[in-house]
Amino acid sequence: MCTSTGLGRVGRAGGKAGLFALFLSGAFKEGLLGGAHGIGHGWKDATVGRGFHPYPIVSRALRGLGPPSLLGESSHRALSTATVHPMSSPSDTSEPWFVTAFRADYRELYAHRDDHAAEEEVAHLIEQGLQGPVLDLCCGFGRHAAAMTRRGLDVVGVDLSAELLRSADPHIAGRLARCDARSLPFKQSSFAGLVNLFSSFGYFGEDGDLEVLDEIARVLMPSGVAFMDLMNPEFVRATLVPFSEREEQGVVLTEERALENDGLQVVKQVCMTRPDGEVRRWREEVRLYTVADLAESLQERGIEVESVAGAFDGRPLAADTPRQLLRLSRR
Ligand SMILES: C[S@@+](CC[C@H](N)C(=O)[O-])C[C@H]1O[C@@H](n2cnc3c(N)ncnc32)[C@H](O)[C@@H]1O
Repeated sequence: MCTSTGLGRVGRAGGKAGLFALFLSGAFKEGLLGGAHGIGHGWKDATVGRGFHPYPIVSRALRGLGPPSLLGESSHRALSTATVHPMSSPSDTSEPWFVTAFRADYRELYAHRDDHAAEEEVAHLIEQGLQGPVLDLCCGFGRHAAAMTRRGLDVVGVDLSAELLRSADPHIAGRLARCDARSLPFKQSSFAGLVNLFSSFGYFGEDGDLEVLDEIARVLMPSGVAFMDLMNPEFVRATLVPFSEREEQGVVLTEERALENDGLQVVKQVCMTRPDGEVRRWREEVRLYTVADLAESLQERGIEVESVAGAFDGRPLAADTPRQLLRLSRR
């Protein structure tokens, strides 16, 4: 059974240095960086800790390569040969939350965020001017990448979760790679379009979040268009449900939610109990950014906020709209 574990301190989750060490060791393991195999310290020594499998990862050291050559072969091979590590134990606190949270069973929690929803969202984004080549930044299991591909866009999807990437539609597996959003392997101005969907921003502390903006600005070509789909802070604060429980196909899900850091961060403690009694717990910590919070940082990086909608149906942002869908353009 799931019981409350309390909501702990919110701080910068994980260490960039540790993750970067992981990229390097993963890349060395794959020979991607041209270095020696079996470099002195293996992935187990990286500070992301026990339980995180060294799924081949594409490092920023490969920035010189453009999307097609990078993602056609090496990444596809990497994705199809990787073995998925068993889930970490609930007591494993050494991983950053954004590693622990996005395992394969994350799909069960957000089952309604499915291919059908992705089709509709992508249709709206294309109407709003999304063009390829597109980077789906933090693509998860690639539902939007698949929908964009079906609509004829040239798409690359990246995500940090090996398990979610592995569960993607095989038709797009060759278009996906495991990368960290703060350190992308693509050369400057590689993409005419970029999407960052379903609250996939606000995970890394202020410095880390700015690094993501740096990367968005770097890989987007001049006049390129990007869409960021974020929670609407005002709506979240007004409607937060502190506790809920539901059952889906015998799996019981409890979710505890709280606002922390003066209401700047929404924290969710999830507990999943399977019919056989297996329990997994994880935590999500997402910084709530308003458009005003982001606009200046984006502008400093050569990106303008062109418009903001309150949902994927295009309605204007208001206190009662659940999302903030930002349309951005690169100068
Ligand atoms: C809320 S999910 C959204 C996934 C997808 N965009 C969708 O709509 O289904 C957030 C995603 O961000 C990914 N993620 C977390 N940290 C990341 C990082 N440092 N670099 C790249 N992806 C990351 C997670 O693995 C997860 O798939």
